[in-house]
Amino acid sequence: MVGGMELSSSSGGASFEGKFTFYVAVCAIIAATGGLMFGYDIGISGGVTAMDGFLQKFFHNVYVRKHLAHENNYCKYDNQGLQLFTSSLYLAAIIASFLASKSCSKYGRKPTMQAASVFFMAGTVLCAGAVNLSMLIIGRILLGVGVGFANQAVPLFLSELAPAKIRGALNILFQLDVTIGIFIANIVNYFTSEIHPWGWRLSLGLAGVPASILCLGSFIIPETPSSLVERGMLEEGLKMLRKVRGVENVEAEFEEMKQASKMAQQVKHPYRMLMNRPSRPPLVIGMLMQVFQQFTGINAIMFYAPVLFQTVGFKNNASLLSAVITGVVNVVSTIISVLSVDRAGRRILLLSACFLMFIAQTTIGSLLYAYLKTTNSLHKGTAIVVVLLVCIFVMSFAWSWGPLGWLIPSETFPLETRTAGFAFAVSTNMLFTFLIAQAFLSMLCHMKAGIFFFFAAWIFIMGLFAMFLLPETKGVPIDEMNERVWKQHWYWKKFMADKDDAVHDDNFVV
Ligand code: BGC
Repeated sequence: MVGGMELSSSSGGASFEGKFTFYVAVCAIIAATGGLMFGYDIGISGGVTAMDGFLQKFFHNVYVRKHLAHENNYCKYDNQGLQLFTSSLYLAAIIASFLASKSCSKYGRKPTMQAASVFFMAGTVLCAGAVNLSMLIIGRILLGVGVGFANQAVPLFLSELAPAKIRGALNILFQLDVTIGIFIANIVNYFTSEIHPWGWRLSLGLAGVPASILCLGSFIIPETPSSLVERGMLEEGLKMLRKVRGVENVEAEFEEMKQASKMAQQVKHPYRMLMNRPSRPPLVIGMLMQVFQQFTGINAIMFYAPVLFQTVGFKNNASLLSAVITGVVNVVSTIISVLSVDRAGRRILLLSACFLMFIAQTTIGSLLYAYLKTTNSLHKGTAIVVVLLVCIFVMSFAWSWGPLGWLIPSETFPLETRTAGFAFAVSTNMLFTFLIAQAFLSMLCHMKAGIFFFFAAWIFIMGLFAMFLLPETKGVPIDEMNERVWKQHWYWKKFMADKDDAVHDDNFVV
C-alpha cells in the first residue's frame, strides 16, 4: 500500500475515494520533464543566435552586420534564415500535435511521451552536430515533432493521473517545468558563450538531457487508468486506478470512467462534433487563450532576450545575465500561480497581469522611443530600468497567461471532444509561437520601439476579453462546466440552448 495525503472528491454527485500518493507524485514529476524539453528549447535559441561562433558558421552576413560599428540598432539581427532557425520547430509542432492526439487515443499517453523523447533526442543529435544549415533545420523539425507530441500527451497524462481536487496544481507542474527549462537554458548559454567557437554545440546538445530523463523515466510511469479503459483494457484500468489512488475502493470513480469512455467511444467524428454550436464556447476560448498568450509578446522576450538586451546596449555577457534574471522571475512567479490559482481564481490572475503588462510594455516602448536611436545605445540607468520592466512583465505573465493558457483549455471541454479540442489549442499555440518567432526581428527592425505599443494594444484587448467573455472556472467540477459555467454566462449561454445539436447528426455511431 502506498502512503499519501487523504483526499475525497465528487463529480456528478458521486464521491470518489483516494489519496495523493507518493507514486503519483513521482510519476507526475517524471512526466512533467516533457515541459522541461519544451522550455529548454525556448530558452536556448535566443542565446545561441547571439553567439559569434554560431553566426559565423551558419549566418555569416548577420555576423558581419552585427560587428559593423554603425549598424542600425533595431535591424542588425533581422534575417529570415536566422528566424527560421528558431521558428521551424513550431511549424513542425503544429502538425505533430494532431498526429499526437491520434497516437494518444490509439496507443496511449505513455508511448506518445516515449515517441516524443525519441524524436527530441534525434533532433538534438542533428542540431549539435550540424555541419550545414539544412542539417540544422532538419534537426529543428525533429525537435518540433518531439515538442508537439510531448505538449499534447503530458498535460493530458497529468490531468488524468491526478485526483480531481489537485488537478489544477498538477497540471501547472507542466508549465513550472517549462519555466525551469528556460532558466537552465539561460544559465547554460551564459557559460557556453565563453567557449569559442563551439559553445553553441554544447548548448544545443544538452537538450538531450531532459529528453533522456523523459525516455528512461517513461519506463517507470504507468499508462493512465482512463487511457486503459478507453482502449478496452478494463481489468488493467481498474488495477491501475487502485494503484494510483492508493485505496481499494475505487468503484465509483471506475464506473464514471467507464461511462465517460463509453460516451466518448460513441463519437464517430470528434472534430466534426467540435464544430457544432454547443462546442463553440470552449473551442473559441481555448484557441483565443493561445492567440492572446502569444500576443502578450512573451516569446519576443523569451527567444530574443539576449538579442533584445544587446539591442538596448548591454554587452554580450551582461545581456545573457539579464536573461538569467528574467528566467528566475519566471520560475518563482509560476510557483505563485500554483499556490493561488484554486484560491484566487483564474480571472483575477489574468486581469491583474493585463494591468501590469500593459504598463510595462508601454513604458518600455516610451523609453526606447525617447532614448534609443538607430545607432546609439541606452544609458546604463535607462537600460537597467528596461530590464526591471521586463522582469515585471515576465512576472505577471508567469502567474497568468502562461500557465492558464494550458490549464483553461484542459478543463473546459467535455470528455467527448477533450482530446480533439486540446489538439486545437496546442496547435494554435504553436502556430502563434511560430508567427511571433518568425516575425519579431523583422517587426523590431521596421516598427522599432513601436513594437512594444503593438503588444500593449493586444494586452488591452485581452483584458477586455478576460473581463467580459471569460467565465470563472475555479472550483467547478470538470463535468459540470456546461450547466454551471456556459449556460449561466450572459453571452455563451446563447450557444448552449440547442443542446441536441450535438447529438442529432451522424457524429455518433448508432
Ligand atoms: C508558453 C511559451 C512561453 C513560456 C514562457 C508557455 O506557457 O506557451 O510560449 O515561452 O510559457 O514561460
